[in-house]
Amino acid sequence: MTKSRIIIALDYPDAEAAKDLVARLDPARCRLKVGKELFTAAGPAFVSELVEQGFDVFLDLKFHDIPNTVARACKAAAELGVWMLNVHALGGGRMMAAAREAIDNAEHKPLLIAVTILTSMGPAELEQIGLGADAKAQVRRLAQLAQEAGIDGVVCSPLEVAMLREFVDPSFKLVTPGIRPRGADVGDQTRIMTPAEAVAAGSDYLVIGRPITRQPDPMAALIAIEKELG
Ligand code: C5P
Repeated sequence: MTKSRIIIALDYPDAEAAKDLVARLDPARCRLKVGKELFTAAGPAFVSELVEQGFDVFLDLKFHDIPNTVARACKAAAELGVWMLNVHALGGGRMMAAAREAIDNAEHKPLLIAVTILTSMGPAELEQIGLGADAKAQVRRLAQLAQEAGIDGVVCSPLEVAMLREFVDPSFKLVTPGIRPRGADVGDQTRIMTPAEAVAAGSDYLVIGRPITRQPDPMAALIAIEKELG
């Protein structure tokens, strides 16, 4: 298992496109994130292939359903040999506890992470779904609920890390997208930090996509980020 903090987002439409990048990466130097697009197109067989190649895989399917269904989905994901998977904290404490129990009973135990509030949701949208406009307060409440349900950590904005570190256990993992190395194209991300800033704030794992995957030499881009992290 790699010690890298860097999780590369495989945001590709199919296995072929993803394989081109994966062939250029070293499983000892990074982890990989498979999300809904690639998983829906390429399926569990592709995830197993990555695991067999020695990659730690974060299966980013953000399960959200009744407790029994989520528990069974988590068990199925654990059986694929993934390193990390996630659920929506908005599914509630019982749902998260059921996911925890399913994983604890599995032979192979991935890290179980929760998503609090999607960073794409602004105050008006949060009001629309009845959560109130204060995203920060919701993130805090849901992270607390996740920790109480035995979840291993949360996905959050790097700008929320310092606030969360004030009250979560030191072992609670904070996984942050929205990372842009110095000088990189910001793209559609808005609330960003550099890798070094995010780690200094208390982030455990950095989810990085285009600043690595869209570079002519992705491995060189990864090494440059490792250097920045020291
Ligand atoms: O290319 P980029 O570095 O922006 O990719 C970031 C990855 O993290 C993408 O897979 C994106 O869907 C994911 N993500 C995010 N913001 C969140 C949650 C997930 O950018 N709040």
